[in-house]
Amino acid sequence: MASPELVREIERRRTFAIISHPDAGKTTLTEKLLLYSGLIQSAGLVKNRKGRKATSDWMGMEQERGISITSSAMQFPYKGQMINVLDTPGHQDFSEDTYRTLTAADSAIMVLDAGKGVEVQTRKLFEVCRLRGIPILTFINKLDMPGRDPLDLLTELEEALGVQACAFNWPVGSGRDFRGVVDRRANELQLFTKTAAAGAKKSKVERIPVESDEFEERLGSQLADKVRGELELLDVAGNRFDQDQFLAGKVTPSFFGSALTNFGLEPFFDAFVEMAPSPYAREVTNDDESTVMVEPTEEFSAFVFKIQANMDRRHRDCIAFLRICSGAFEADKRVHHHRLGKMVRLSRPHSVVAKTRDALDEAFAGDVVGLISRDMFHIGDTISSGGGFRHKALPMFQPELFARISPTSTSLRKRFDKGMRNLIAEGAIQRFTPESGGETLIGAVGRLQLEVLQYRLDDEYGVETHLTYLPYQCSAWLANEELPFKPLSTSLMTRDDRGRIVVLFQSDWDKRAAAKLNPEHTLLDFA
Ligand code: G4P
Repeated sequence: MASPELVREIERRRTFAIISHPDAGKTTLTEKLLLYSGLIQSAGLVKNRKGRKATSDWMGMEQERGISITSSAMQFPYKGQMINVLDTPGHQDFSEDTYRTLTAADSAIMVLDAGKGVEVQTRKLFEVCRLRGIPILTFINKLDMPGRDPLDLLTELEEALGVQACAFNWPVGSGRDFRGVVDRRANELQLFTKTAAAGAKKSKVERIPVESDEFEERLGSQLADKVRGELELLDVAGNRFDQDQFLAGKVTPSFFGSALTNFGLEPFFDAFVEMAPSPYAREVTNDDESTVMVEPTEEFSAFVFKIQANMDRRHRDCIAFLRICSGAFEADKRVHHHRLGKMVRLSRPHSVVAKTRDALDEAFAGDVVGLISRDMFHIGDTISSGGGFRHKALPMFQPELFARISPTSTSLRKRFDKGMRNLIAEGAIQRFTPESGGETLIGAVGRLQLEVLQYRLDDEYGVETHLTYLPYQCSAWLANEELPFKPLSTSLMTRDDRGRIVVLFQSDWDKRAAAKLNPEHTLLDFA
């Protein structure tokens, strides 16, 4: 029986990732969440991307580039709930880690730029959420700027992502004429007032009932009528919110606002903690290959979703990031390590927000902990108090960059092979063997993954390498390998390290052409 304290702790946890296309406002929104939680008193400190001090500047290279390379997690209380926000790096730092982090999240916030709508990277990240059935709330940002028609944006959400959008608030005017949003649940207008110093401090919101004379006085009768008409239309024709559909990832509650000017943020964050699920049961595979659901209140279990190396150069160690799926973590406890088939002792866990590595006193289902390890963990490993099961294997994600890599000197071959073996096992890179024989090649989701690979081979194994990029830009696993596949002359048939067929294509166009040529096949972006 779980203790009431454990149940309470788990129920108040909200573990989520923020997904967006670069520049949509993810960093700004995250920072404002810290402001509204009371963790920071003034926002704007992380304003300048180039000049900003990264929260996770662990790797030497990371410091040099001034960016955060791999995703980390932050924990802080918000109005009685405990928030775990998992960082999903975008920009050039986009890598498989960005995808993998989503496997550790219970929900996601999708940030869209109101002027741009659904962009490429949002779409990719959304696909992963859909694959995992992760519920998503949508924040349509930058309402203080001229943007697209709100109905258009919601329609695009539905068409591009195949999810029903349910507007929780509705914008009144846009750009310079932006007047605020109507909270549809409370049926009141939240008036927009531009905050001083680009939203460094929390803003107060003035609320006016839609059915009041003041509503008309403030907006003018023409605009007031227009808004009332739109609201009526939404009531009749808009999607209805259904909590079960939301939890199944089929409906996304959508909110309009502006992260920079703090507009609509508090209502959004409040709605988020109210609606987003606390940690829920996860499917595991028993040793006899049967599957069962493990409730978060059951005894301790966790899986590794990320490994970050070289976080402390003096020790040459790695930190394995674990998502606790059930129970409570106890430092120094002996637990079953499923892949190794033995008991291991867990060292003191570390909170993962900064390089200071504050030791954690306690952690519960939903939390992310970092454990220092040398070789103990691989991506996807399960540990648990009781043993006898493993969490679902983490999917592999379609690489979009391919290359050949070799040591600059043949005398380094042995060390190179060892380094590659370790880094592939760790999940740092994917390797492919052409069906026709010949040299193996490597694949990555982002360019940074390849740069990190070269850096680590050099730094940790003393091997300088030479990288030759190949002309492939996307790839696919085959859902059914038994069926014969007709490749294009420009594609390459390979096998991944798990022995599955992967076809490499030189362009999306080629991939679509191959799909047409092989209608009986389903081409998978994840496997
Ligand atoms: P990202 O993490 O998703 O990449 O986006 P980020 O928050 O860094 O925001 C990208 C740019 O958009 C930043 O401007 C930021 O100030 C701006 N921005 C974010 N939210 C809003 C909003 O609600 N309204 C407006 N008008 N702008 C917003 P920048 O000029 O690129 O950088 P900075 O020098 O201002 O940091």
